[in-house]
Amino acid sequence: MRFDILTLFPGFFDSPLRESIVKRAQENGAVDIHVHNMRDHTTDRHHTMDDTPYGGGPGMVMKADPVVRCIESLPREPQSRVVFLTPDGIPFSHDVAQELSQLDQVVLLCGHYEGIDERIRDGFVDMELSIGDYVLTGGEPAALVVLDATTRLLPGVLGHDQSAQQDSFADGLLDHPHYTRPPEFRDMAVPDVLMSGHHGEIRKWRRKQQLVRTWKRRPDVFRRAIFDKEDKKLLKELDISPDDNGTA
Ligand code: 6GU
Repeated sequence: MRFDILTLFPGFFDSPLRESIVKRAQENGAVDIHVHNMRDHTTDRHHTMDDTPYGGGPGMVMKADPVVRCIESLPREPQSRVVFLTPDGIPFSHDVAQELSQLDQVVLLCGHYEGIDERIRDGFVDMELSIGDYVLTGGEPAALVVLDATTRLLPGVLGHDQSAQQDSFADGLLDHPHYTRPPEFRDMAVPDVLMSGHHGEIRKWRRKQQLVRTWKRRPDVFRRAIFDKEDKKLLKELDISPDDNGTA
């Protein structure tokens, strides 16, 4: 899968793309990542990327011409989307990452200044994504989030023992707690059941932890979760109704 990142700050991506799993994914050929400086696509002497807003008001607006020239300079794969990162986009989620991971190419357009000329969005953007209800200084951190969450879903990126199938959110619930040696750390013990070797009991305990955590922390996620027969039995033992969404 190919990613193209369109930015005014290409240096922002230098070290994140050279570390850990995303680095290995590039070495394996699972992803091919290209970072483009949109300023290289300006045509005026001063390399102007922004201008004052029509209608007045504070701040500057990113100009349509260099952004669109940059988009149009890209080689495009058959299944390709231009994604604009913006706090007024639709919420990025595991499901959206899954959807993007099916494509051949994702173009991540990072905005700056107070906004970008609306005609870029109208004519050249396929999807607008937000990574949460807060405002960043620019789209770059969000582009990294989208790239990272999508890359780890691609075939061959994670090892077998860290399969994305077992992720929190993959099955609609938060993760259960994890422990490793030693059995006691600063007076805090590992739950007995995990040391019991009882695989059936361990599985049940972990699933219960997932259910109770999701119910307590994320009523919105709990409401959308799908419970099988065993989940319903575990919920009964926890005295939680499968329909309890936390808004009493
Ligand atoms: Cl995608 N961009 C910016 N600038 N701020 C954000 C965001 C994106 N998502 C949440 N806040």
